[in-house]
Amino acid sequence: MTGASTAPELDGVLARANGIAMRLPYQSDPTLRDKINAGEIEYLDIHLSNVAQHAWFGLFGDLDIAVVEVCAIREDGLLIPSSSVGNNKTWLERAKGVILEVNARQPLGLDGMHDIYYGTALPPHRMPIPLLNTGDRIGEPYLRCPTDKILAIVETDAPDRSNAFTPPDATSRQIAGHLIEFLRHEIARGRLPANLLPLQSGVGNVTNAVLAELGEGGFTGLTAFTEVIQDGMLDLLDNGTLSMASATALSLSPAATIRFADGIERFRERIVLRPQEISNHPELVRRLGCIAMNGMMEADIYGNVNSTHVMGSRIQNGIGGSGDFARNGYLSCFMSASTAKNGSISRIVPMASHVDHTEHDVAVVVTEQGLADLRGLSPKQRAREIIARCAHPDYRPMLQDYFERACQQSFGKHTPHLLKEALSWHERYIESGSMRNS
Ligand code: COA
Repeated sequence: MTGASTAPELDGVLARANGIAMRLPYQSDPTLRDKINAGEIEYLDIHLSNVAQHAWFGLFGDLDIAVVEVCAIREDGLLIPSSSVGNNKTWLERAKGVILEVNARQPLGLDGMHDIYYGTALPPHRMPIPLLNTGDRIGEPYLRCPTDKILAIVETDAPDRSNAFTPPDATSRQIAGHLIEFLRHEIARGRLPANLLPLQSGVGNVTNAVLAELGEGGFTGLTAFTEVIQDGMLDLLDNGTLSMASATALSLSPAATIRFADGIERFRERIVLRPQEISNHPELVRRLGCIAMNGMMEADIYGNVNSTHVMGSRIQNGIGGSGDFARNGYLSCFMSASTAKNGSISRIVPMASHVDHTEHDVAVVVTEQGLADLRGLSPKQRAREIIARCAHPDYRPMLQDYFERACQQSFGKHTPHLLKEALSWHERYIESGSMRNS
């Protein structure tokens, strides 16, 4: 059980050694992914905001040992968290024993960047969370751990293992361009303030491209209420586009890690790192009115989004925090290229082979082809928009044909489908290596 994805020296090594029977929540390690997809490891993919409370509900049984990385242990026994808070508060509270890993590589300047909220409780004793603005501090800078729980303290100076940042490609920049144009339109219509609403930005190349585009678009005074701070967000904090960012962890490239450490005094004023039950809290996301921007594997013509499964059955990563933000945000945007695997897969399909975000939660779908604003539209209206604006031209006529025949022949005419055909595109890919029908 973790906060989310970990490095190869944890997920990868343990998976290779057959050391994991059950893993939760989000993961992205290739070896672990293969073992899950081979049926050798059980995987429980739950919303990140739910993990801590599910541990408290007792759904995961007893927790024996928590291994928690910290920046330092203070003389009074309080723990200075590291660049990731995740669920550490909960693991420290719930585990019978604790191993602390004190990582000298983590900059001591992190001291004061965290906000650990100890005010959560189980229903029916819950009280409102007193957070009104993205940068509010409502808790304490340190984690608590009773000393009699500590089994061992391990010292290390291992760096975070992270990938180098790849600059956004042309497709990602096109997607970003459509989304920024849409946001400007929303400002012009008076539906968004000029400094937008708190941004949530998911993982990947496309979301980094959106952040880069925002940085060049003359926006100022933006804020972020998000899960992870990646390179793109650090750039926006650096150039003043973003005035404040709330998250649970940093996930920076090696170059950005150095930049972050060098400028830590400056960043401490503008970054708050929280437990993920707070960074992703559905009630806060709803109240702050976040603009959720996440990647997707595929969307269907009615706006159901698959974020996690290849061909309906192979896990890619996991839902992560995308559902926390998508369902509750003010604006819920999903983005990807219109095709995958050199065009052999259409990411706009008749029926999603797995649904993480339902048609009720998805406001905007964007590909490099264009943007479909689904708000206020019925299923058939949504289908027309998505096919016309988001599908790749190679697949648009096939989708059009499917939709028109479904409108004629479907059992019901509200959300028309041809059930025998709806998932045939995926079947065709599995059988022939392409979704194309010729
Ligand atoms: N069918 C089959 N394979 C597909 C596919 C589809 N519909 N869509 C994408 N893929 C493959 C790509 O080809 C690529 O494979 P490769 O690495 O072998 O080339 C891989 O999946 C990743 O796709 P890519 O286009 O590079 O997407 P990405 O890096 O932008 O990630 C998600 C997209 C959906 C995987 C990613 O956003 C994710 O894990 N989302 C869920 C969690 C989340 O949203 N977290 C944020 C909340 S804070």
